[in-house]
Amino acid sequence: MIVGIDGPSGTGKSSTSKAVAAKLGLRYLDTGAQYRAITWWMLHHGIDIKDPAAIAAAAGRAEIVSGTDPSAPTITVDGTDVAAPIRTQEVTSAVSAVSAVPEVRARITELQRSIAKEAVPGIVVEGRDIGTTVLPDADLKVFLTASEEARAARRSGELKGKDAAGLKATQEALARRDAADSTRKTSPLAKAGDAVEVDTTELTLEQVIECVVTLVEEKQQGR
Ligand code: DC
Repeated sequence: MIVGIDGPSGTGKSSTSKAVAAKLGLRYLDTGAQYRAITWWMLHHGIDIKDPAAIAAAAGRAEIVSGTDPSAPTITVDGTDVAAPIRTQEVTSAVSAVSAVPEVRARITELQRSIAKEAVPGIVVEGRDIGTTVLPDADLKVFLTASEEARAARRSGELKGKDAAGLKATQEALARRDAADSTRKTSPLAKAGDAVEVDTTELTLEQVIECVVTLVEEKQQGR
């Protein structure tokens, strides 16, 4: 059972994907964490992230390993645990530029496909282009949406205590990142034609989880 969950940031994608995987005994992959990890590596090695050619040339050098247990997902680069540093503002601001480079996407996409292929008994993969590009044959594709206000409110709630940015600044940064992710040339954030769209604006996290669990169970029963 391969499930792809796509959508912009702040829709509850990570919390939902992890919970659905845990409930159904599936593995879990956060593809955004992989793009953040390669971005962290570029910054760490002094690669000029305004120079796509420099990023492309270095794309093959970072060794990214993702642990897919939904109750304790892990991510390392060249053996270093980067779970915390990939969430810093520095990485968040740079990740759209790095993830727009085709050589980076080719490398990470290949990694994602091999993880999904080996996942037993299946996997929930969350990202931006899972249904359209990475796993077009997924058994179930879900596209989560929410109003920009709801997404910014959730994201600033997550950041509380870690970041002084106010709601407005968060909303602007989120809108900028979504615009960059949606308009890049190579596999932009997009809903696959056969994805089920779930608008989470008025739903609690529990309701979204329940909804996706039901969709997976219906697929498993061939409905
Ligand atoms: O889900 P996230 O915010 O951690 O993702 C970080 C960035 O990675 C996001 O701004 C766009 C990029 N990304 C992508 O291009 N393709 C994916 N499948 C997942 C994330």
